[in-house]
Amino acid sequence: MTFDAHPRSSLIVALDFDSLSTALKFAEQIADLVGMFKIGKQLFTSAGPEAVRQVAKLGTGIFLDLKYHDIPNTVAGAVLAAAALPGVQLLNIHALGGSAMMQAAVQAISAGIPMGEDRPRLLAVTLLTSMDSKAMKEVGIAGTPQARVLHLAKLAKKSGVDGVVASVQEAKAIRKACGREFLIVTPGVRPKENSTSTKKDDQARTATPRDAIEAGADFLVVGRPILAAVDPRAAATAIVEEIASAK
Ligand code: C5P
Repeated sequence: MTFDAHPRSSLIVALDFDSLSTALKFAEQIADLVGMFKIGKQLFTSAGPEAVRQVAKLGTGIFLDLKYHDIPNTVAGAVLAAAALPGVQLLNIHALGGSAMMQAAVQAISAGIPMGEDRPRLLAVTLLTSMDSKAMKEVGIAGTPQARVLHLAKLAKKSGVDGVVASVQEAKAIRKACGREFLIVTPGVRPKENSTSTKKDDQARTATPRDAIEAGADFLVVGRPILAAVDPRAAATAIVEEIASAK
């Protein structure tokens, strides 16, 4: 896939809404300023694949963030269906589903795409960033989160997956271990003006757009700093400018 070289192509805005009409109204305002929109479990569960079809009409790419994790055959079916939806450029699975599940997804992502046409890229979620050492131990996963993330990223690469979703803090080590071609998508991005603001949200470890690019991220996922901004266009533009200056 050849992504647009403009710095805006690195910005993915999370459409974290439960109503399709609200999501579309918001997306229309900023569609020309961003590379992709992310449709996650909330919007997809309330509005279904119609959300993908409608957002695709805006002309931006779509990151379908449904994090599949099931037996290989079921995941392959879901990936095949997702890849057939218009505009989907990125979609994801959980690396903890194992290499057989990841390989099934890798095969499925190209299966329905006509020869010569672009296929979506497949990402793996390594460990949820909400999992700390204690939460990992609770479910029987040993070691530090950092070590597990790196192990799972390498396993994903070996299984043929195109990249990972990872925090900025993990990006550098993943880039080093998995090479230049491996895609890294980082959420938890907060521009500087926001880090001093009194409004705190649930992202424990945040980084600026510059930090993300310098750590090796290919794409940045940003939600609330744009969604909740008084002027979403200005917020998106400022982030793209920061991406451009860090590249
Ligand atoms: O509003 P905010 O910028 O925190 O939104 C980030 C988006 O990225 C949300 O849609 C969230 O679900 C997603 N995400 C995340 N952390 C991860 C993986 C995905 O924040 N580790």
